Amino acid sequence: MRFTDKVAVVIGGNSGIGLAAAKLFAQEGARVAIAGRDARKLEAAASEIGAGTLARQCDIARLEAIDAFMQAVKERFGRIDALVINAGVGTFAPVRQITPELWDQVHAVNLRGCFFAAQKALPLMQRGSAIVFTGSIGAVLGIPGNAVYAAAKAGLRAAARILATELVGEGIRVNVVSPGPTETPLLYRNQGMDDAAVEGLRRQMIANVPMHRMGEPEEVARAILFLASHEASFITGVDLFVDGGCVEL
Ligand SMILES: NC(=O)c1ccc[n+]([C@@H]2O[C@H](COP(=O)([O-])OP(=O)(O)OC[C@H]3O[C@@H](n4cnc5c(N)ncnc54)[C@H](OP(=O)(O)O)[C@@H]3O)[C@@H](O)[C@H]2O)c1
Repeated sequence: MRFTDKVAVVIGGNSGIGLAAAKLFAQEGARVAIAGRDARKLEAAASEIGAGTLARQCDIARLEAIDAFMQAVKERFGRIDALVINAGVGTFAPVRQITPELWDQVHAVNLRGCFFAAQKALPLMQRGSAIVFTGSIGAVLGIPGNAVYAAAKAGLRAAARILATELVGEGIRVNVVSPGPTETPLLYRNQGMDDAAVEGLRRQMIANVPMHRMGEPEEVARAILFLASHEASFITGVDLFVDGGCVEL
C-alpha cells in the first residue's frame, strides 16, 4: 500500500500499460485520475480501476484540453503525488514515406503533448511528488522504419532529464520507463499495417528479445509504480529499460 492517501494521475490511462498502472495505483491505495481520447474506453477503464476514479477525455495534442484536465484534477483532488505521462501513438514508416504531416502528428502527442502535460501539472505538484514518463527502447535503437517515433521518444527522454535537473531542488523526481515490445493494443494501431503485417512484426520483435517473449503491461506498470513511489526516493533522471534484455544484452 505505497500510495495510501496519494493522488495518482495517468495520462493515457485507459488502455495497455497505462491502464495496468492505474489499476495497480488503486490497489495500493491511491485515488486515481486517468485521461485519454476515447470516451468509451475511459468509462470501461474507470469501472475496472474502481469507484471514485476520475476519467476525463483529453487529447494532449490540444494544449487547452490538458488545461481542462488539470483543472478537473485540481477540483477533485487538489494535488498530484504521482504523475504518469504514458500517452503515445506508434507508427512505422520507412524514411522515404515519412510526410511532414505524419511527423507532426506523432510528435504532437509523443513529445510536445507529453512535455506540456508535465509542465501544466507542476502547479499541482509538491515536494516528494514524482513524474514518470513512458519512453521506448526505440529511442536508443536503430530499428528500421522507426525514425518518427524514435525521434519523438528520444526527445522526450532528453526533456525528462532536463526536467529532472530543474526540479531536483524542488523535491520533485522525474524518471523514464522505457518498455521493449509489450503485449498491448498499440501494435495493432500502427497506421497502414494490416493484421498479417502486424503478426510478422510481432514475430520479428519476439525473435529479437533475449527473453524470447513480449512483455506484459503489468511488468512495465510495476516499474512505473516503483519509480513513482518513495522506494525510489534517491532516483531521478534515469531511463529504466523494461525490455527482456533488448538494450542491455
Ligand atoms: N506496447 C509496446 O510495445 C511499447 C513499447 C515501447 C513503448 N511503448 C509506449 O508505452 C506507452 C503506452 O502504450 P501501450 O503500449 O500501452 O499502448 P495503448 O494501449 O495504445 O495505450 C496508449 C495510451 O495513450 C493514449 N493516447 C494516445 N494518444 C493520446 C492523445 N493524443 N491524448 C491523450 N491520450 C492519448 C491512449 O488512449 P486513447 O486512444 O483513448 O487516446 C492510450 O491510453 C506509449 O507511450 C507507447 O509509446 C509501448
